[in-house]
Amino acid sequence: MRILSISDEDIARAARALREGLLVAFPTETVYGLGADAFNPTALARVFRAKKRPRFDPLIIHIAALEGLDPLADLDALEGERRDQVRRLCRRLWPGPLTLILPKRGAVPDLATAGLPTVAVRFPDHGAALRLIALSTGAVAAPSANPFGRLSPTRAEHVRDQLGDRVDLILDGGRTRVGLESTVLDMTGPVPRLLRPGGCPQGEIEALIGPVDISGGGPVNAPGQLKSHYAPRTPLTLRGPEEMAAPDYEAGAGYLFFSGASRERWSRRLPAGGPAPLTRVLSEKGDGVEAAANLFDTLHELDRRGLSRIHAEEAPPEGLGPAINDRLRKAAAAGAS
Ligand code: TXA
Ligand code: MG
Repeated sequence: MRILSISDEDIARAARALREGLLVAFPTETVYGLGADAFNPTALARVFRAKKRPRFDPLIIHIAALEGLDPLADLDALEGERRDQVRRLCRRLWPGPLTLILPKRGAVPDLATAGLPTVAVRFPDHGAALRLIALSTGAVAAPSANPFGRLSPTRAEHVRDQLGDRVDLILDGGRTRVGLESTVLDMTGPVPRLLRPGGCPQGEIEALIGPVDISGGGPVNAPGQLKSHYAPRTPLTLRGPEEMAAPDYEAGAGYLFFSGASRERWSRRLPAGGPAPLTRVLSEKGDGVEAAANLFDTLHELDRRGLSRIHAEEAPPEGLGPAINDRLRKAAAAGAS
């Protein structure tokens, strides 16, 4: 495994590696992806092996231009209104942290889609990712670059530490901006359906296409939809804001607050003179976008500290709150099992 920069020269090298069937981890605006040429089944098989990911869990294919969509997805297979909605979403929210599930074209290998008749497509908003994809075959399959079920990587070092030599090259573009995965929206059913809350808030989608179904449970039994996923090694307890403010304190545990105000409230009620507990705050000013950007990064950091437990506070339910709480709930479920 080698770590490269995101200079033009290094990106060109990484694109050649992709065309040769190698695995390249690269930054996107959400998290780092573990990339393979989407049209090369041997390379796709290596992705599943490297992540120890079950083959029933399909991959997202990344494109670098709107024209990249047509070879992958057949919009004509959608009924008229749905097709118009897809076009609107693509025009307004791409590039960006939104993945669309669409009817798949025959040229897309079954391994990429786990044999489903649908394909997940995403146009990431990240210069280095776009240059890499454009210089390769224009379609790069990339799950998050973490072992199956573990925390998603927001830095090149997270990929190196978690995947090591199971990846050939890592493009180091620093810390990712959004910090949690894309929103996954299924456009192939009778109504648009949110399969995974993520970096694109539900409200932004609904402003363009009207209400989406959030009752959950997609057509696949996919880990994005499994209860236990995105897990730190340290057991994690999710607490509502009231519960989090309780003045209990577990020695050896870490406390992860949504805002500076929550930490304040909690620390005022701690018994005086005791040891200073380890605390982290996702966003001092309580901003959901900033909190999302810090979520995995902070969980990776806390996970290295050998804590007995992480007590994490739920985010308020607006904006990116549901995406943050989804990841925290899944981390908590993993610890419980
Ligand atoms: O932000 C992201 O989406 C990142 C970066 C690298 O782009 N990628 C990512 O990929 O999170 P992954 O593989 O960790 O998550 C993909 C999710 C999974 O929950 C998978 O089940 C779902 O998308 N998915 C993929 N294809 C699908 C399909 N045809 N139908 C339903 N769900 C699908
Ligand atoms: Mg993932």
